Amino acid sequence: MSAVYLDGEVMPAAEARISVDDRGFLFADGVYEVTPAYSGRFFRMEHHLRRLSRGLRELRIDYDPSGLPGVHERLLAENGLTAEEVAYVYVQITRGAAPRSHAFPKKPVPPTVYAFARKYQRPTREVWEAGFTAVKVPDRRWARVDIKTIQLLPNCMAQQAAVEAGASDALLVRDGIALEGAHSNFFAVLQGVVVTHPLTNVVLPGITRGLVLELCEDLGIPWEERPILVEELDLADEAFFTGTTTEVRPTVAIDGAPVGDGQVGQVTRRLFVAFMECVGQVAAEVGSGA
Ligand code: PDD
Repeated sequence: MSAVYLDGEVMPAAEARISVDDRGFLFADGVYEVTPAYSGRFFRMEHHLRRLSRGLRELRIDYDPSGLPGVHERLLAENGLTAEEVAYVYVQITRGAAPRSHAFPKKPVPPTVYAFARKYQRPTREVWEAGFTAVKVPDRRWARVDIKTIQLLPNCMAQQAAVEAGASDALLVRDGIALEGAHSNFFAVLQGVVVTHPLTNVVLPGITRGLVLELCEDLGIPWEERPILVEELDLADEAFFTGTTTEVRPTVAIDGAPVGDGQVGQVTRRLFVAFMECVGQVAAEVGSGA
């Protein structure tokens, strides 16, 4: 039985109860965050907390997240996940419970704060080396996806479309531009340059995305933030998705057409190995070279 956190208490998941008036349930009125722990140590927790704080501020949800690192530690320990290679803690904060009315409750209510931990199973070396596939899906999300809201229905629909097409990832496209994945950021390698969409309102400022750009800098790999036109995908040498639950995932085909030579590329491989070193993992398991 897993232990979860709800409004100040750690309890068995089966005992956690949330009001039917919760604005998360009624309106998807809330934000969430997913922070990874490698061998029991949280990675870039301060980045995740900063993004969460910004989201809370933007949505005007009054909650001080300074106690959350302790909650994260506790959930790992209570769920016996401190020795796992990779575990995550998801935290979800809604505006709280109040009778249904679109405008914020006149009399402020306490936010609902829920968190749970989960173990991650990295793809085997064999699977990683074979590469992953993606399909393009129209981006039907709202205009502020830079905020990590719990309003994820368009992301779920897009991911389901990918699953039904037999692909690993949905590549969200709007106005002829390849933006990001349903739960990850997107990169293409074009003429030796690692390219990803700039941080605007149409993509999430991924923590892994930021790290990968730092790694490009460290490794002397040229990189650029600019929109990627869908037509450019035909010319890409490599493509990959990044995210807390995705790490660095090579995409070898989009809509059935090979990306570059249809193999996992060298730039993606170097970035994955550097990523693994950065999070204190041994890269030998996957992606360390053919
Ligand atoms: N998703 N873009 C979207 C739309 C995302 O949902 C995510 C993360 C990312 C990558 O961000 P980061 O590198 O900070 O994880 C980009 C989380 C993991 C999820 O929904 O489970």
